[in-house]
Amino acid sequence: MSTAPRAGNGKVTVPDILSWKSHPGTEATQPPRRITCLTAYDYPTARLLDEAGVDILLVGDSLGMVVLGYENTLPVTLEEMLHHTRAVRRGVRRALVVADMPYGSFHTEVTESVRNAVRFLKEAGAEAVKVEGGERRLELISRLLEAEIPVMGHIGLTPQSLHALGGFKVQGKTPEAAEQLLRDARAVEAAGAFSVVLESVPRELAARITQQLRIPTIGIGAGPECDGQVLVFHDLMGLTAGSVPKFARRYANLAEVIARAASEYCEDVRSGQFPSDAESYHLSAEARDRLLARLHS
Ligand code: KIV
Repeated sequence: MSTAPRAGNGKVTVPDILSWKSHPGTEATQPPRRITCLTAYDYPTARLLDEAGVDILLVGDSLGMVVLGYENTLPVTLEEMLHHTRAVRRGVRRALVVADMPYGSFHTEVTESVRNAVRFLKEAGAEAVKVEGGERRLELISRLLEAEIPVMGHIGLTPQSLHALGGFKVQGKTPEAAEQLLRDARAVEAAGAFSVVLESVPRELAARITQQLRIPTIGIGAGPECDGQVLVFHDLMGLTAGSVPKFARRYANLAEVIARAASEYCEDVRSGQFPSDAESYHLSAEARDRLLARLHS
């Protein structure tokens, strides 16, 4: 993997992400450097997003829903995540590549979880892993750091807790739930994570968590005060089938573009408009004559 970070070569590193934490009070002189993050699951998309200047490419386990067609993220396997992380890695030169640890890959033995996380760095070229969960991941996060694996936390609506949470719902709405989220955020930071995703959290609470942490918060449905934002690529590009949450602003309608292109192609093939002569290979006049002579002999 040719991504070894060298000072000043523009490669985004974990220390860069930490250094982009906004510090209230200093903003009058320096506007905050907000962190951009998008999900990516394949080589061509990763290449385009990297060239567009996205800071972090997250190989999210949302892969299961938007690419593999599962109903939720729970069936996604470690092997599937490794496969897609490798593809993303090959497309990226500048962005930090973070791989999501899928459900079941860090929920049993800590030693086994660390071994699974090591595979993302060793075999797939990820530079960090993301784990869902707050206080209860304290030990795991510290053990990952001991194994030289930078960790991005993820609290709030954690889709792997779908059944325990009773659905995809905004989290931290009661005072007790808000206090728990604050404790989760502090625990993830204390354990040594370099950033934390806040998913589907009321804006006011996300702002408070952002203010209280020294590590950057990356929001998704958590309002504009977070230090950075992340969206699922397919939501942003209008490729998601069905409804999307209200925070998922659509910047393009690729579903329409793809459907139009595919139906034009079908029409052209059926009507004989594709391929044209210019889109065909030709023999030289001499080779054609020799071929005809041979066929007629
Ligand atoms: O799996 C994923 O894409 C995620 C992001 C939505 C943060 O966890």
